[in-house]
Amino acid sequence: MITATARGPQCNLQADLHEGNIVLHVRRRETVGSCEQLCVRPKMKLFVALLAVGLPALAAAHSWIVCTDYLENNGWYWDKAKCRAWPRNAKKYNLRNRRFGLAGGFPGFVHRLDDHPELTPLCNDPRDDATSYQLPMAAYYLGQKVVITHPTKNHASDPRCGIRNRRDTENLMYVVNGDEDPCCIDSPKLIQIMDMGVSPSGRGESDEVLGTYPKPGFQNAPKFCEDPDKAMGTYNFTIPMDLKPGRHTFVWKWIRVPTVNPFTTCWEADVFATKAERDAHYLATGRTTEDMWDFYQIHNIVDGEIVDPIDI
Ligand SMILES: *[C@@H]1O[C@H](CO)[C@@H](O)[C@H](O)[C@H]1NC(C)=O
Repeated sequence: MITATARGPQCNLQADLHEGNIVLHVRRRETVGSCEQLCVRPKMKLFVALLAVGLPALAAAHSWIVCTDYLENNGWYWDKAKCRAWPRNAKKYNLRNRRFGLAGGFPGFVHRLDDHPELTPLCNDPRDDATSYQLPMAAYYLGQKVVITHPTKNHASDPRCGIRNRRDTENLMYVVNGDEDPCCIDSPKLIQIMDMGVSPSGRGESDEVLGTYPKPGFQNAPKFCEDPDKAMGTYNFTIPMDLKPGRHTFVWKWIRVPTVNPFTTCWEADVFATKAERDAHYLATGRTTEDMWDFYQIHNIVDGEIVDPIDI
């Protein structure tokens, strides 16, 4: 048996010549233990080469939450100045200064659960409030609409760039009951506080549905076609009125397709009973107390262009 191995930044590729066939093993670094095998005949070498070229795109099948309190809902482009709070260890992973959507090493900040939900930690980094918030922690108030942002990583559908089949399956927000990280995604300590919907996709959907924003779910990224890998998507969720004020852990969970395990991002936030108390906390920590605004409320869009009136 002859073995050739190729390594990219995001995947390992191993081709074995086995009984006249080439067996190609594709092991994505983010999923130790999951190995896809393809059996091809030698004359299909070209196909194998093409497949290898396509691998980085395949391996980019992931996403994460970058900002946990973003000022603009349904926005077009990421602007770190509009982010006033960050997830666990955002500084360590350089989420603020690195290019939006760049994973920055694997697995790095990306956290995908595996086939042992009862064993796999729910969060990429375990909870440690004392060291995890060199970039500031969020503060919310009861009833607040919170905007969070994530890179699309090629996982949206928009007919303007000829992509209609990238699916979306589940987008949920949880709050953790208690102060310790739940063991796992099946834990009863996870209380679902928001279902952020599912984006439309597929041949059955009209161009109009697929190309209209805002849209529910993961693919709410109006500028997806300009940079399918690194476009910004936003979600919003509401802090439940019956949440007990105090510090809580929040968990985002995304399922792209049922056959791919969920991705999660975890962060803490101080929840205040009123906006006045939250504002006092943000002022004391040097942050703006503005509420989030909606991109489509502050801009006039005509034929896909911003045509705002000019202030005199
Ligand atoms: C907030 O998110 C919900 C759920 O996805 C969505 O239905 C709603 O339209 C969003 N609100 C705004 C103002 O975008």
